[in-house]
Amino acid sequence: MADRPGGVPRTTDDTGGAGARERGERGMDTRVRVHRAPKTLITGNGAVAKIGEEAKKLGASKVLIITDPGVACTGSIAQVEEPLRGAGLETGVYDKAVPEPPMSSVDDIVKMAENGKFDCIVGFGGGSAIDVAKIVAVLVGSNAKVEDFVGVDKVPKKGLPIIAVPTTAGTGSEVTNIAIFANEKLNVKQGVVSGFLIPNIALVDPVLTWSCPPNVTAASGMDALIHCIEAYISVNATMHTDPLAYEGIKLISKSIRTATYDGSNAWARHNMAMGSLLGGIAFGNAGVGAVHALSYPIGGMFHVPHGVANTLMLPWVMEYNMLSCLPWFREIGEAMGENMEGLSDREAADKTIAAFRQLAVDLNVPQYLSDVDIPESAIPDLVEGALTQGRLWANNPRKFTAEDMAQVYRNMAVRPGSKPVKAKKTGAAK
Ligand SMILES: NC(=O)c1ccc[n+]([C@@H]2O[C@H](COP(=O)([O-])OP(=O)(O)OC[C@H]3O[C@@H](n4cnc5c(N)ncnc54)[C@H](O)[C@@H]3O)[C@@H](O)[C@H]2O)c1
Ligand SMILES: [Fe+2]
Repeated sequence: MADRPGGVPRTTDDTGGAGARERGERGMDTRVRVHRAPKTLITGNGAVAKIGEEAKKLGASKVLIITDPGVACTGSIAQVEEPLRGAGLETGVYDKAVPEPPMSSVDDIVKMAENGKFDCIVGFGGGSAIDVAKIVAVLVGSNAKVEDFVGVDKVPKKGLPIIAVPTTAGTGSEVTNIAIFANEKLNVKQGVVSGFLIPNIALVDPVLTWSCPPNVTAASGMDALIHCIEAYISVNATMHTDPLAYEGIKLISKSIRTATYDGSNAWARHNMAMGSLLGGIAFGNAGVGAVHALSYPIGGMFHVPHGVANTLMLPWVMEYNMLSCLPWFREIGEAMGENMEGLSDREAADKTIAAFRQLAVDLNVPQYLSDVDIPESAIPDLVEGALTQGRLWANNPRKFTAEDMAQVYRNMAVRPGSKPVKAKKTGAAK
């Protein structure tokens, strides 16, 4: 495994002698590190049946299940409610959580949780429903609004216990200290980052993802892959996050096409759910970088779903990033199953970028701003939005100037052969 360019060497053997380096080894990286994750991870097909006994161990007596209408439609809420009731607990359901949640959308749920005197919150759904559950748990009884907690460590104390049950694979939100919301006033997505948001229990049952339609499987699966990739190249990666990120890349790359086009394939769904979980732990500690920083304004201003916006950005941003850490791109390509034998690091990195592009084509995810109806004239506003993501830029291996950001957006502005998108009055409004 390669040394970190410009950083501390990865090997305890300063001579870098043959055999001294192994994948995942960060050697002399002796910085103080803090790693956090839920105390309890429960995984596997049928794991959701354990939710009742586990909620009881947390001391719960009345549990509020938060989900969204798309998940509610599948009828799978019963799989959460029945074991909770079977364990003697009272339950309530809020099934109107909004995907890609706006900040104001949580107000009614907080009131419901307070009025109903619920003492445990279950987030049941994709990243959207889980993020809502995480923030509701800390807002109950606080008199605060989501806006008050935006940023790092602004949540003053632990709230109600949280059990996160993902139905996508996925954001990894079930294990992270982050919840992401659309700020309707500023037209950007903003994160609340706090150790108090980490769920007490993450319950990852791959069977719950079987009902995910192909577009959600592809977009949320690519988000999971990007978490692994960005965590792997993050300047805050550690010897603990590297193996998780690498394994996540392997699991997701070999399964995402099958999961998308044959959603009933249990092997692929299991690999995706576990890859996304590993990616969540990896990026929850190592952070994500430029792909997320440049995709948040696309989501915030143009309401492009998070996974789609990230997939759109991936190859364009990584063409930039790879020059700062070529050997890691070789390793990422290897994890994706590419044969790198006989190639230089530069050639191998190019092959990895080509593999990203092929994935987007195979999964039918847009690749140009024009594909999602974003006009070139929006680029200055997109750059302004991206510049506010300082927390994410701090993790990225290559330092981007505002001009670099604009150049990345320009490179991907218009699909060759298609007409430029006309500027609209709505959309990039600020
Ligand atoms: N907190 C974190 O660590 C973190 C990380 C990445 C992304 N996010 C956030 O998560 C959100 C995206 O989450 P997501 O990609 O999981 O999608 P999502 O939760 O927004 O769900 C997308 C759609 O899929 C439907 N759906 C979900 N599971 C389903 C199932 N099993 N069967 C049928 N339909 C199903 C939902 O009803 C919804 O309509 C964004 O707001 C993003 O910013 C959070
Ligand atoms: Fe993400």
